[in-house]
Amino acid sequence: MAEAEIFEMGPRDGLQNEARPIPTADKIALVDLLSQAGFRRIEVTSFVSPKWVPQMADAAEVMAGITRAPGVCYAVLTPNMQGYLAARAAGASAVAVFASASEGFSRANLNAGIAESLDRMAPVARAAQADGIPVRGYVSMVTDCPFDGPVPPAAVARVAAALRDMGCHEISLGDTIGQGRPETIDAMLAAVLDELPAERLAGHYHDTAGRALDNIDTSLARGLRVFDAAVGGLGGCPYAPGAAGNVATERVAAHLAARGFANGLDPAIIARAANLARAMRGTR
Ligand code: HMG
Ligand code: MG
Repeated sequence: MAEAEIFEMGPRDGLQNEARPIPTADKIALVDLLSQAGFRRIEVTSFVSPKWVPQMADAAEVMAGITRAPGVCYAVLTPNMQGYLAARAAGASAVAVFASASEGFSRANLNAGIAESLDRMAPVARAAQADGIPVRGYVSMVTDCPFDGPVPPAAVARVAAALRDMGCHEISLGDTIGQGRPETIDAMLAAVLDELPAERLAGHYHDTAGRALDNIDTSLARGLRVFDAAVGGLGGCPYAPGAAGNVATERVAAHLAARGFANGLDPAIIARAANLARAMRGTR
């Protein structure tokens, strides 16, 4: 059977947008449950400014409290060297830098334009490589931006290439506000595939408009085999108005299986984790 990987985003993308403080112990319990589900990679938290994303202020405590399962990669977001050094001290197995294909969102999310944000991330990628820590790159707003409108595929390809050039082993393509359509996702992928092979790309689709699974099908047809998702479909980005959750892990897992792609996940544990995640956000 062919394989596709789901990269679990729940503890990070799923929880970062929650206004109520979530106890650190609850976050740790969620990660520990997810560690038993069969994921190869879990995005645990973000080492970002607590002034910008208060919910992730306990990143170091969460990393210190989780029980690491053998073979599971515990990844975190690192927007700058300050975040990277804290992530390394916390023993992150992998880090991720994140940029935007649109200027408007870059300024809203990172307080810097695209070029300046890339300049800030390059030392992070260099340091991670020197330390033997894999670094992933995100491109946000790959089709539509709430500030700038439709995003040209060439802009996405440019930022993806810049992240590749700074040493990111994989580029995750974010439909941050879930407005992509199979046609726009396909056009975007065609441009990005001129720069990177499908094996180095991941689809990161929010499900605001209910099209994430269609966009995954389009991506599968283009050869992508890694998809980001969050248990319970939780999430959203605090600096992207209108962003709803990541597509739900349990739905992606069933969808991939129906299309003949094994993903190695335990559906019973995923269901428990989805319930736990929803309860943490008070949306059960
Ligand atoms: P800034 O205000 O320009 O940064 O923010 P600064 O360097 O001037 O620092 C301001 C203060 O923050 C200082 O503290 C720094 O020490 C502190 P003060 O001196 O005022 O007390 N600070 C930090 N503290 C802890 N860890 C750090 C850190 N950096 C600075 N790493 C900055 C610039 C990039 C820091 C800020 O804009 C930021 O943290 N942005 C992150 C926003 C974010 O996390 N967004 C959500 C994640 S992205 C996303 O969800 C999209 C994704 O899912 C893909 C998709 O869906 O498209 C990945
Ligand atoms: Mg996201």
